[in-house]
Amino acid sequence: MRTAVALAVSLSLCWLGATGHSLPRLRLSYRELSGSNRSVLFFGHRGFLGFRSLYLDEYRDRLFIGGKDVLYSLLLDGASADAKEIYWPPLPGQTEECFRKGKDPGTDCANYVRVLHPYNRTHLLACGTGAFHPVCTFVYVGPRGEHTFSLDPASVETGRGRCPHEPSRAFASTVIGGELYAGLTADFLGRDPGVFRSLGTRSALRTEVDQRLLHDPKFVAAHLIPDNDDRDNDKAYFFFTEKVVDADSKEHAIVSRVGRVCVNDAGGQRVLVNKWSTFNKAQLVCSVPGPGGIDTYFDELEDVFLLRTKDGKNPEIYALFSTVSHVFQGSAVCVYRVADIREVFNGPFAHRESPHHQWGAYEGKVPYPRPGVCPSKTTNQPRRQYGTTKDFPDEVLHFARAHPLMYRPVYPRHRRPLLVKTDLPHRLRQIVVDRVEAEDGQHDVLFLGTDAGSVLKVVVLQKTSSAMTEEVILEELQVFKVPVPITQMEISVKRQTLYVGSSLGVAQVRLHRCESYGSACAECCLARDPYCAWDGTACTHYQPSGKRRHRRQDAHHGNPAHQCLDQNLTGEDGRSDPADGARAALPQAAPARHRHLLLQNPGARLHPDRGQDGPGGDPW
Ligand SMILES: *[C@@H]1O[C@H](CO)[C@@H](O)[C@H](O)[C@H]1NC(C)=O
Ligand SMILES: *[C@@H]1O[C@H](CO)[C@@H](O)[C@H](O)[C@H]1NC(C)=O
Ligand SMILES: *[C@@H]1O[C@H](CO)[C@@H](O)[C@H](O)[C@H]1NC(C)=O
Repeated sequence: MRTAVALAVSLSLCWLGATGHSLPRLRLSYRELSGSNRSVLFFGHRGFLGFRSLYLDEYRDRLFIGGKDVLYSLLLDGASADAKEIYWPPLPGQTEECFRKGKDPGTDCANYVRVLHPYNRTHLLACGTGAFHPVCTFVYVGPRGEHTFSLDPASVETGRGRCPHEPSRAFASTVIGGELYAGLTADFLGRDPGVFRSLGTRSALRTEVDQRLLHDPKFVAAHLIPDNDDRDNDKAYFFFTEKVVDADSKEHAIVSRVGRVCVNDAGGQRVLVNKWSTFNKAQLVCSVPGPGGIDTYFDELEDVFLLRTKDGKNPEIYALFSTVSHVFQGSAVCVYRVADIREVFNGPFAHRESPHHQWGAYEGKVPYPRPGVCPSKTTNQPRRQYGTTKDFPDEVLHFARAHPLMYRPVYPRHRRPLLVKTDLPHRLRQIVVDRVEAEDGQHDVLFLGTDAGSVLKVVVLQKTSSAMTEEVILEELQVFKVPVPITQMEISVKRQTLYVGSSLGVAQVRLHRCESYGSACAECCLARDPYCAWDGTACTHYQPSGKRRHRRQDAHHGNPAHQCLDQNLTGEDGRSDPADGARAALPQAAPARHRHLLLQNPGARLHPDRGQDGPGGDPW
């Protein structure tokens, strides 16, 4: 049965007509990255960071880092020697207590700073595990243009329900309007999961302890996504996985979820006091449709990236999944539209008579106001006005408590993944996306952090006249010397830089270094990197606003015979016939001079609309 799953995957990939190759065009080692200044690493002042959190502050041009017993502030344009440090160990006595309670003094009983968010104009909110005794504080970072960084020990307060106890257990949080929204397990034993709201002036809220709401969840991301211009409709979205128990087999399975709450939720008055009254959740599906209706599911959500568009209410949601199957290791990226998520939350609620029954759509009358709808001017009916969730009828709160799950799942755009990888040696952990403007249109460039200290840079090319895509792994960047999992990535499009964190440290990596592809037009063109173009003399960063006259770029087809006819093709035997060069000289000449440029599958040889490559070729 397990083999059938693997078979279904390979079959369905053929069926999808996806073309892509798991060999990167360029593989850059740790030494090459640091030697060329493409990557600059920060390991803290003592050489070991125990990195846990990162906040990229593009307004102040600073990078804030949280590690083991330590916080750093780096100037984005400064040297790492100028970094300011705050030493923040556990409170007195906590290390000993942690040790007494049976935790490992070397790895557990320290203050790992896991929460780092902008709080207001002058302060950041920072929370740490505090040797299994979570603590929070405000850190003064000063106004823009001033490199101040200080912590007032007197402002340290409890971090319970705000920060996990454990140094590495998954959780997610975000600050909205001076309040912290966090999805985590909030007790020493790790048995009290919930979505919590705290800080600010309102009373704290949380989810009830009920497996119908959250069953052994692993939180991945939390984001504010407004519904419309009425702030009263603002919602906080949580992305997580949880366990489900199959009614027939009693087997546990993992499913991925999107859940949400109203920012103006105040809990109930008699029912659900200080508990969320607007919490709903829905399944996030990421599967490859197979022949005969056998779909392959990627169940385990690993990371979520919100690609903010001009329309702040409709960011595109890129979600990275992996499979929990023991047969093969697979990862997939699915893209969700917020409109589709809203539609599912506006659709039927899931209902079942008892845990032994199957789920169905709730067909009875749903009380008013509909659970999950925020009290606001835009949602109120005339003559039935609700200013706060505390005024909601008990009937509504009882219904909300019994029906947290929506019946329909959320499907990705085009009902299938944007990208599927089943043959990578590493598991993919983190995703960041840049929408790049190139000569032949817009392309999504995905940066995928692995569990082996590397980052894959992948371009996904939309094929004209169909929903089909082709992906090209442009580069494999070995950011860390040893194979540690990448735990966080942030991108600065303004600075064309990626910030990559693992337990060891943080790397600043330039998104592109076009010279690496070689010094000839054909090499530049074959690279198919939308960041790069041949400018007549060299392979350089393509800027859409720049002079276009000499730009040669073709990310779609990467056909140098077409792009470089009148250009210096090979870079070495410059006087050879350009047309011959395109056909003959390239495959031999290029790799010889640039041993990392892997041309096994040059795009030039691929017909753009063909579903597979050469005879006997692996579809990947
Ligand atoms: C990298 O940066 C260092 C320090 O700024 C500089 O001395 C060195 O020349 C640079 N190396 C390259 C290859 O650009
Ligand atoms: C920011 O928040 C901190 C902590 O509550 C407070 O002490 C500080 O005055 C606030 N700053 C501003 C500018 O509101
Ligand atoms: C082609 O490029 C190579 C290396 O950059 C250079 O030596 C050669 O003179 C160039 N030829 C032409 C025709 O520009």
